[in-house]
Amino acid sequence: MKYDIELSGKTVLVTGAAGFIGSNLSRRILEEYGDVRLIGVDNVNDYYDVRLKEYRLQELAGYQNFIFIRADIADAAAVREIFEKYQPDIVVNLAAQAGVRYSIENPDAYIQSNLIGFYNILEACRHSKDGGAAGVSHLVFASSSSVYGDNKKIPYSTEDKTDLPVSLYAATKKSNELLGHAYSKLYGIPMTGLRFFTVYGPAGRPDMAYFGFTDKFVKNGTIRIFNYGHCKRDFTYVDDIVEGVLRVMRKTPDANENGVHFKVYNIGNNHPEDLLEFVQILKEELVRAGVLAEDFDLAAHMELVPMQPGDVEVTYADVTELVRDFDFKPETSLREGLSRFAAWYKGFYGV
Ligand SMILES: NC(=O)c1ccc[n+]([C@@H]2O[C@H](COP(=O)([O-])OP(=O)(O)OC[C@H]3O[C@@H](n4cnc5c(N)ncnc54)[C@H](O)[C@@H]3O)[C@@H](O)[C@H]2O)c1
Repeated sequence: MKYDIELSGKTVLVTGAAGFIGSNLSRRILEEYGDVRLIGVDNVNDYYDVRLKEYRLQELAGYQNFIFIRADIADAAAVREIFEKYQPDIVVNLAAQAGVRYSIENPDAYIQSNLIGFYNILEACRHSKDGGAAGVSHLVFASSSSVYGDNKKIPYSTEDKTDLPVSLYAATKKSNELLGHAYSKLYGIPMTGLRFFTVYGPAGRPDMAYFGFTDKFVKNGTIRIFNYGHCKRDFTYVDDIVEGVLRVMRKTPDANENGVHFKVYNIGNNHPEDLLEFVQILKEELVRAGVLAEDFDLAAHMELVPMQPGDVEVTYADVTELVRDFDFKPETSLREGLSRFAAWYKGFYGV
């Protein structure tokens, strides 16, 4: 494994820094590299409970070399100004409108953040090299396992076809990969896209199943399990994602067959879990943490319903390339990860 970027002493720009993955990545970098200047950008939108974003930002506020800028990446002038002022060496673009189902309700948010916002980041990276400046040496950006659509072949490999998206969200993420490749080729910006597979953990996203199910159980409500439970998800613990991103940030991709320094990787647990099994483990860990009562009746709080539009039956990451190039594979078990989530939930909500 040959790392060609030394993070020490560099300026790193993380967009989506108040978000779930962005805040965890930022904290890890700040903890590990006392001399990295970390610029966090986020518009702190209210897609989900803003208190969670504020809580995550508070955890970062204590680091002296953390600078937070509240800005929208869809605002070209704001992005330009940030790049001109701070001249980042490495950029990690995590800001996006996430979620598959919400893209039916509010498609505009996806076009704004995921397409226009991403384009503004690409343009800023391009112009960072103006006048012979060193500019951005590596752009790492979040893609998603959703680009695999209804892929029948498992596990999902980066060699598989991904041009049949089944949600607007997936279509925007695939577009990021295409735009990224073109900009990398045209302007010589090394770039790595990461297809994340269902990331979970403490202070995660309330719109995701493990969090939403917990909220419902606590309120004595009934959860709905789609496709009658015949779904499998490759759940990936957030610390594993952060470790993967950190390794990837430090190595620009080798040139591909067209001489472009661009590469896409899967980051997933490589171990899909049955949804019903997952709900059972979640319940057990919530009971263990004292969030739910010992005698909580799971069956009475569960309804099996048909598939939702845009959802897929299985996600399963082939991580051979990640292991080959970075000697790394997510390893945290679902039980361990959910146990940490349950403990955090108990503390945060005081249930
Ligand atoms: N969590 C997952 O399971 C998962 C899976 C696949 C891909 N991803 C991708 O990883 C990235 C991070 O995801 P996350 O789970 O941390 O989501 P998140 O919603 O918690 O974080 C995204 C952050 O970006 C900010 N943001 C959104 N639009 C913005 C804009 N236009 N300008 C500035 N900030 C903006 C939000 O306020 C939020 O804090 C996203 O690109 C997401 O699509 C996540």
